[in-house]
Amino acid sequence: MVERTYTMIKPECVENKHIGEVISRIEQGGFRIRAMKMVHLTKQEAQAFYAVHKERPFYNDLTDFMSSGPIVAMVLEKENCIKDYRDFIGSTNPAEAAEGTIRRDFGADIQCNCVHASDSPENAEKEIHFFFADRDLV
Ligand code: CMP
Repeated sequence: MVERTYTMIKPECVENKHIGEVISRIEQGGFRIRAMKMVHLTKQEAQAFYAVHKERPFYNDLTDFMSSGPIVAMVLEKENCIKDYRDFIGSTNPAEAAEGTIRRDFGADIQCNCVHASDSPENAEKEIHFFFADRDLV
């Protein structure tokens, strides 16, 4: 089944000028980009986006980090997109990510791990619509 997922290139990866390489990997991996924009989240927006983690010890640091600079928000489309993209980017912790994955190659640590990816169809829908209106999806 053709699915969509939400991804964003995180602030450290943008700051390190890896946007082009990461997008190229995504496209070469067979994912179609259906929407894309650059956004500088406020602290409140980052808190809302990651609200599911609000009881976790890393929540405050994570939302500080995610509002520290611009991100690149994207909607990707492919067969089995949600699981395939999570496999494609590698484990949350770049040190544990498989060789050749984006997180292994561009992530710095478990927080600054280059990209975010939706973890379920329900969250993909929510996350896509956190950033994009239906008319933004091409
Ligand atoms: P992401 O895929 O964006 O989803 C939640 C984010 O929380 C995750 O990537 C990491 O950036 C961050 N995260 C997850 N686990 C930890 C952790 N143990 N310590 C710090 N940050 C974490």
